[in-house]
Amino acid sequence: MLLPCVRRVPARRLRRALPLACSCSAQGPSPRGYSRGAGGKGLILGIYSSEKDEGAAQFTSAGDAFDRLVSGKLRELLSLCGPPLKKGKTRIFHGLHQDFPSVVVVGLGKKNAGVNDQENWNEGKENIRAAVAVGCRQIQDLEIPCVEVDPCGDAQAAAEGAVLGLHEYNELKQKKKPVVTPQLHGSAESEAWQKGVTYAEGQNLARYLMEAPANYITPIKFAEHIEQKLRSFSNVKVHIRPESWIATQEMGAFLSVAKGSAEPPIFLESHYLGGANTNDSPLVFVGKGVTFDSGGISLKPSSGMDAMRADMGGAATVCSAIVTAAALNLPLNIIGLAPLCENMPSGKANKPGDVVRAKNGKTIQVDNTDAEGRLLLADALCYAHNFKPRAIVNAATLTGAMDVALGSAATGVFTNSSWLWTHLYEASVLTGDRVWRMPLFEHYTKQVTDCPLADLSNIGKYSRAGGACTAAAFLKEFVTASHWAHLDIAGVMSNKDEVPYLRKGMAGRPTRTLVEFAARLSQDSHNTK
Ligand code: BES
Ligand code: ZN
Ligand code: ZN
Repeated sequence: MLLPCVRRVPARRLRRALPLACSCSAQGPSPRGYSRGAGGKGLILGIYSSEKDEGAAQFTSAGDAFDRLVSGKLRELLSLCGPPLKKGKTRIFHGLHQDFPSVVVVGLGKKNAGVNDQENWNEGKENIRAAVAVGCRQIQDLEIPCVEVDPCGDAQAAAEGAVLGLHEYNELKQKKKPVVTPQLHGSAESEAWQKGVTYAEGQNLARYLMEAPANYITPIKFAEHIEQKLRSFSNVKVHIRPESWIATQEMGAFLSVAKGSAEPPIFLESHYLGGANTNDSPLVFVGKGVTFDSGGISLKPSSGMDAMRADMGGAATVCSAIVTAAALNLPLNIIGLAPLCENMPSGKANKPGDVVRAKNGKTIQVDNTDAEGRLLLADALCYAHNFKPRAIVNAATLTGAMDVALGSAATGVFTNSSWLWTHLYEASVLTGDRVWRMPLFEHYTKQVTDCPLADLSNIGKYSRAGGACTAAAFLKEFVTASHWAHLDIAGVMSNKDEVPYLRKGMAGRPTRTLVEFAARLSQDSHNTK
């Protein structure tokens, strides 16, 4: 039983060499002779590109060990299949070893790829994530329920590639993709592997919440989902605040958006107390939680409006980061605040020109009801100051202009603190989920404070120009803390094919960067009292 290699190696030569099957990258039909899902495991092994094109490729240590186990047959087959494997490309071999009916060799690129200063990320880690993800998906296509993964010298990155790469929102389909469980191949680096699984599961939780339809993830359902995820931790307390509580807090800006919908709003407040002292100054995360943004009376165009089910991506990523921080038992206190509501047109909805009053007393003219995220965040940011935070970090799918500026390459960060910026930036180099610093100039503040009827307008007076920057300048009017960062995640909300280890769909970015950032802050004693 033999499948010819897709590369131009004469079948006769292959057959003579080894009685084995090999098929290259393409996700073709199931190999004849190896029944789908017939027990046994898949195995992913990494291989580096040679420095010079013509040189021999180099296995990882796990690849080398496996090759020795099969008496050098893997290396021999690979060389018969054609030139060395390029980065992100794969080859599958069937029947090499009885414990592993299918072995996928994945190209990792250059061996010593580290931080790339032009790209602002660790290229070695990104290569591992991408290669492992594509390998795991091939195993999934073969319907093999379990796959062992070569740590490729960085078990955390390998685990992230596997768990992120296999994730898909299947919930509402009758026909689901087969479940594949990834495991670490070998026993070294199991702690790093587990850490990678936890980071990736955190991002997958955000992806799940963002992808789910708005009639499934309403404000209350969102809150209950997060509460359920946090239930098992004894050092976590969750408060699901109803509309009456929001009213007593005088959150007039948030309420003005919420009242346009039949779905009641929720203010979700999660306290994770992992710090040495429960009264250590917390990191406060705030996330925009618009479970559906129709635009309100300033209605959005209908084409593509369904994507606005993910307009709670800020709330999803910060809450998922807290679930992950709790799972990792990070030694710091974190409070998560998520104002959750829908933005809908109705007889009770905000009308262009209406004036509302935020928690800090500032009045806001609602010139465009589609600029609703900043209204929710204004009140949540005011409330965040009650906790005397060491830092406030908010995340929001705030402006289409952010997507225009950076696309999906990086989250835009607007911050008044270089200390905070450095931690966010360094975290993102490791995770590969990048950030890029944006301006908070007075120039933009003037464009939101020059307003006919109120202290502030909810849009810049030059309409679309610098839209992400005027939105950030608006938020700044509700912040007095000296360490605050606003993350505009509109551009990274969804993935087409830009991030190779994420399937098409809502991306859950930048959850891993938020977790890594919190982990770094927990190691920095600055500002804890
Ligand atoms: N949720 C949107 C922003 C958005 C757009 C997120 C595309 C993700 C993808 C936000 O509420 C919005 O509609 N903003 C307006 C602001 C404008 C009216 C000043 C926008 O960006 O068009
Ligand atoms: Zn909007
Ligand atoms: Zn919105």
